[in-house]
Formats: sequence, structure tokens, C-alpha cells
Amino acid sequence: MARITDAQLMTHVRKLGDEHPPIRMESVDFTVNDPHRMRTTFAGVLDYLARVELEVDRNVLELLTIMPNASAVDRAFYHDVWWDQEIAHGKILDELKRRIHLPEAEPLLEVGYAVKALGALARFEPIQDVARCIYYFTGASTERQAVLAYNSFAQKLTQVGESAVRETIINPIKRQEPGHFAFYRLSAEKLMADEVLKPWQLFLARTVRARSYELVGTHNDPRYQAQMGEVVTRLGFDEHLHEYAKEIGRLEAKLLWAGRQGLDFPPYVLKALRESVDAYRERGAFAGTV
Ligand SMILES: [Fe+2]
Ligand SMILES: [Fe+2]
Repeated sequence: MARITDAQLMTHVRKLGDEHPPIRMESVDFTVNDPHRMRTTFAGVLDYLARVELEVDRNVLELLTIMPNASAVDRAFYHDVWWDQEIAHGKILDELKRRIHLPEAEPLLEVGYAVKALGALARFEPIQDVARCIYYFTGASTERQAVLAYNSFAQKLTQVGESAVRETIINPIKRQEPGHFAFYRLSAEKLMADEVLKPWQLFLARTVRARSYELVGTHNDPRYQAQMGEVVTRLGFDEHLHEYAKEIGRLEAKLLWAGRQGLDFPPYVLKALRESVDAYRERGAFAGTV
């Protein structure tokens, strides 16, 4: 694997910042041709996306908890580039919801117990490297889910003729997500290529990942898991869960599990997806639709 330097990572971050300023509210055309259909079809999707974007504040708190000594390039990414972009995504999606008379998203801003526990342990240098590894793979998985969701949502909006929302909200957001994924991918590749982790640390990282893997924004809460199942279903991924799991988990299978037993994705990715879709089928659509 080719070595990646800190300077290359920093160049990537600066380029993201230069090429992708936060999307401005004034640039958005909030025209919705059929608000009723938008509400009945996409209330759960819009609420989920808006909430998860607005939870960027929580993500920053989490990363400060588990990586008290974040590197200069990590800091440049989340502080100078990522936060501004994500919070703009969240505010714009929430404004769209307001305009079609859906309740505002309620982002969860408190750091979870598992992260606090990991943070306490991460005061020890060897554990902090494990935390860093988990942070990069969590980020890559999260951003990959965002890329896939916005791609599919843009197509669905084409089908229902909501071109203003597609062109001025979803497509501009969609263009910013791949750069986020690329940052985490490059960071994970660098960590692995530099062989920072000893075998016991890798073992620990894999164990934590396997035991605590969650889809973005589900927070171990059955309601959010069901809503994620709704998003997966509305965006048409439920028919191809294997393929979807591969898209999300491929990087992690390759780098963290080193393609073990020919794995296309770690089994816990598919398991989390199945549980979400099942929870949705049991519990029904997000309550914001009524
Ligand atoms: Fe985003
Ligand atoms: Fe993102």
C-alpha cells in the first residue's frame, strides 16, 4: 500500500475547504410542488437526514472525548471544514421540513456511555491509537452511508418531479459528502500502512467494532433503528441489503479485517441493516408523518 503523508492529508483537507464552502441558505430554492406527497413519502427520510447532520455537534464532542490529542490534520478537518459543511446541510434540511409543515428535527447532543468509557481509557496512549482507528472507520462508514443516501434520494426526487429540492439542496449536499469519506479513508489507510497498531491493538479495535457497530444516527435506540430501516426502505436499499452492506463495509473489510475469509464486508454491517429494516417493518413509519 502506498504511503500517505500528513502533508498529503492536509492538502486534501485544504482543498475540500477551498472547493466546497458551506452551502448558503440563500442559494436554496425551497419550492415543493406537492408538499403532501413529500410529507407522506419522505417525512422519515428528511427527519433522519436533518437530525444526523445536526448531530455534528455531538460528533465533535465525541471525537474530543476519544481523541484528546487529535492530530493537526484531524483538527483542521473537523474544525475548519467538516463542521461548517455538515451544520449547513442540517439547517437547510430542517428549513425544508419547516416549510412543508413537518416538526423540527431533534438532534441528540449528548455523548453516549460507550464513547465516554472509551474516552476514559484513551488517556493511555496505546488505547488512544485504538480509538483513532475506530474513529476513522466510524467516520468512513458514516460518510459512505451519507453518499449512498443522497445519491438515491436525488434519484427518487427526479421520479416525483421535485427538481428544486433536488437541484438546490440534495445535489449540492451530495457533492460534499464524498470528500468527507475520502478524508476518513485516507486517514485509515495511512494508519494501517504506517503499521501504528500492534497485533493486540488491532485485535481490540476489531472487537470493539464488532461489538458496538451501529448505523449512523441509531444510537442504540430502537426508535432510531426503525427510522433508519424506513430510510433504507424508502431509498430502495432493502431489496439489495447485501450489495448495500458491501458498499458501506468494503473499506473496513479490506483494511481492518484484511479481507479475512474473502469477506466483502464485516458481518456486523449486514446484521445492523437487517435489524433496522426488521424494526421498521414491526414498528411502522416515523411518527412525524401523522
Ligand atoms: Fe452532510
Ligand atoms: Fe458528511
